[in-house]
Amino acid sequence: MVKEMRSDLNPFSLLKHNNVIIKFAVSVLLVGLAFRLLISDSFRFYSVVETSLPANEETKPESLMASMPAEEPASNDFEANKSRTSQSGKCDLFTGEWVPDPSDPFYTNQSCLQIEGHQNCMKNGRPDSGYLYWRWSPSGCSLPRFKPKKFLQLMRNKSWAFIGDSISRNHVQSLLCILSQVEQAVETYHDEEYRSKIWLFPTHNFTLTVIWSPFLIKADVFEDMNGVSSSEIQLHLDELDKKWTDQYRSFDCAIIAGGKWFLKTAIYHENNVVTGCHYCPGKNLTELGFDYAYHKALQLVFNFITNSGHNTLAFIRTTTPDHFENGEWFSGGTCNRKVPFKEDGVNMTDVDTIMRNIELEEFAKAAALGLENGVVLKLLDTTRLSLLRPDGHPGPYRQFQPFAEDKKAKVQNDCLHWCLPGPIDSWNDLVMEMIVNGGIYQ
Ligand SMILES: *[C@@H]1O[C@H](CO)[C@@H](O)[C@H](O)[C@H]1NC(C)=O
Ligand SMILES: *[C@@H]1O[C@H](CO)[C@@H](O)[C@H](O)[C@H]1NC(C)=O
Ligand SMILES: *[C@@H]1O[C@H](CO)[C@@H](O)[C@H](O)[C@H]1NC(C)=O
Ligand SMILES: *[C@@H]1O[C@H](CO)[C@@H](O)[C@H](O)[C@H]1NC(C)=O
Ligand SMILES: *[C@@H]1O[C@H](CO)[C@@H](O)[C@H](O)[C@H]1NC(C)=O
Ligand SMILES: *[C@@H]1O[C@H](CO)[C@@H](O)[C@H](O)[C@H]1NC(C)=O
Repeated sequence: MVKEMRSDLNPFSLLKHNNVIIKFAVSVLLVGLAFRLLISDSFRFYSVVETSLPANEETKPESLMASMPAEEPASNDFEANKSRTSQSGKCDLFTGEWVPDPSDPFYTNQSCLQIEGHQNCMKNGRPDSGYLYWRWSPSGCSLPRFKPKKFLQLMRNKSWAFIGDSISRNHVQSLLCILSQVEQAVETYHDEEYRSKIWLFPTHNFTLTVIWSPFLIKADVFEDMNGVSSSEIQLHLDELDKKWTDQYRSFDCAIIAGGKWFLKTAIYHENNVVTGCHYCPGKNLTELGFDYAYHKALQLVFNFITNSGHNTLAFIRTTTPDHFENGEWFSGGTCNRKVPFKEDGVNMTDVDTIMRNIELEEFAKAAALGLENGVVLKLLDTTRLSLLRPDGHPGPYRQFQPFAEDKKAKVQNDCLHWCLPGPIDSWNDLVMEMIVNGGIYQ
């Protein structure tokens, strides 16, 4: 209960702190010219990306489970074509369009017990459901739906990890929910803040871990439960976060993502010396830019993976776009769209473009090296396909029944995380496709 309340108070609550607003206003003035592009986003994500703690309802009536489908959904006949095209190398899974699909999502707020409150859009009262009825259709081939039964069979005795920030948690919850059609996961571990967790699928002996490591590298963060920081983040650009590296060799597969936390104000350390910062006016330090740190961080990550001496299958997921419109997260930005964009209906923001380019660049270098070392690296390039889904975010329905008492209530919107069920489920369709048709597990 306490946790639930804390997390309700928690995200986006900067606006309630007057001192912070003032600080923020001053910062914006200071920043205005030089770093405009980077900073507006840096503040946008100041508390959005992870101030929210999972507030899972762990107790649900037993009877709900009975209503869950036990059968594998009917297989679809796109598959035959897909295998052919992917073998002939013509298929780019990440380029395509969203097409209408009448089939129901794999799970609902009733059949999946692991949906985090802030992303449980149905339960929170989101009135429209059209956003659930779209399927990602890569050009030149089709993407089969995830096959939970097959997946769990393939993963018997195996262990997977999702490593990153709250979007990685969003992603792991989607996988838990999809798999819950076949077997309910049992939570076997959580850290004090419910940010890192381990689940076991007992009858398949499949272990799923989510590790909270928003920078992937060593970071000293001084944020309280409300996401208000008392001091700048100290980022060590030459040291990985042991939280994930210590466990890495025990995973058969790891889905790793960096991203938005690098946009925050941070002091950069290398060789135990402060070498600069990202957005630290008044500190007399060299502005090195978040791109500098992101390059270094990903290089370290890839270096570790390709030299880990363990054949963990590593997926690197590219950055996730947000869809705040008519304002930023802190200034009344919303995301009210009900349908996906067409391919040319939207452009990636400059920040997302910079981040994804860094990811692609470092991945390309590492993949070549990995090949030499016999380590399989896969790029899970979800940025563009996710950019086409402005309709997939909780918006105001990040909290329970936001308009129950006042239809015109001013509500903080979340246009960054994804509703469950929702478009993020397709990220797992892609993972499944890559491991099955990619010939990694058969
Ligand atoms: C499979 O490919 C063939 C030939 O390319 C095409 O005619 C057919 O419509 C495709 N089937 C599906 C289900 O996409
Ligand atoms: C699930 O969502 C529906 C609305 O789609 C709502 O009526 C129902 O109460 C929710 N159930 C749970 C268990 O949250
Ligand atoms: C899983 O582990 C058990 C116990 O070690 C073993 O008996 C079984 O053959 C394993 N199954 C697979 C598919 O590896
Ligand atoms: C479960 O899998 C692990 C390997 O991940 C294996 O060591 C263990 O023996 C398995 N347990 C059972 C009961 O099969
Ligand atoms: C800023 O740093 C430089 C080099 O470290 C130093 O020479 C200079 O005096 C500093 N300026 C202020 C205002 O502290
Ligand atoms: C995307 O950018 C291109 C080139 O700058 C521009 O022509 C186009 O109108 C933009 N599209 C949207 C939807 O903003």
